[in-house]
Amino acid sequence: METEDLERFELNLREGPIPRHIGIIMDGNGRWAEARGLPRLAGHREGSNSVREVTRTARRIGVRALTLYAFSSQNWFRPPNEVAGLMDLLREYLERERAEILDNGIRLNAIGGLNRLPALVRRPLDELRAASAGNREMVLTLALSYGGREELLHAAAALARQSKDGAVKPSLSDFEALLWTHDLPAVDLIIRTSGEHRISNFLLWQIAYAELIFVETPWPEFRRRSFLECIRSYQQRERRFGLTSAQLRQA
Ligand code: IPE
Ligand code: IPE
Ligand code: MG
Repeated sequence: METEDLERFELNLREGPIPRHIGIIMDGNGRWAEARGLPRLAGHREGSNSVREVTRTARRIGVRALTLYAFSSQNWFRPPNEVAGLMDLLREYLERERAEILDNGIRLNAIGGLNRLPALVRRPLDELRAASAGNREMVLTLALSYGGREELLHAAAALARQSKDGAVKPSLSDFEALLWTHDLPAVDLIIRTSGEHRISNFLLWQIAYAELIFVETPWPEFRRRSFLECIRSYQQRERRFGLTSAQLRQA
């Protein structure tokens, strides 16, 4: 698609409903690199360019929250050199994107077992989270050392502490207030790249009524056009939340 057509495509999409909160499982960096005879880390590096392009596009079309699965709690078990390389890329990403994040009114947020992150990541992450705390245009959440089951366990433990002194009957919203995503809107859309059809421990509670899109494109090649195509596909779906189509038409 020519650049001009891409502009038109984006403008047209902006007439339709834009998902408020999009989560992305950024998968396929390693396979992308291996297919080119490159080290896996080269795929992760190219993937960080996709992060920039997708973040810019999301911000421009009015997405309120973008949550990127960057490192899972299970990814710690990868070979030590890949883990170290990923941590270094994260540090580099935080330093390189700092100005653009601040200039564009984006709040940087992080969820996961952040205590496990090395200081070289934790320091710039905390700094940018603090510096961007007042920004309101979009919240960019990095899921780091993140696991959905771990998040649910954490919330369940918090609930158990609260209920120690008597029987409580928590509502769904009481429970959601204990999740790491408590200050984010409901997830409307989950995208996974690179052809795998699974969730891999991402946002397990939050996906209850999210639309799911799986694409073949590996993350390093997933750029503006691929992202906009996912938005179009989202706009073509009918979200019924358990109701009937007729009920939705009446509402
Ligand atoms: C996603 O790409 C990035 C992380 C999980 C950190 P992968 O590294 O999982 O790439 P594949 O799936 O092996 O190709
Ligand atoms: C999920 O991808 C985690 C991230 C994208 C950060 P994985 O590559 O780790 O998931 P599996 O191993 O294919 O399930
Ligand atoms: Mg993978």
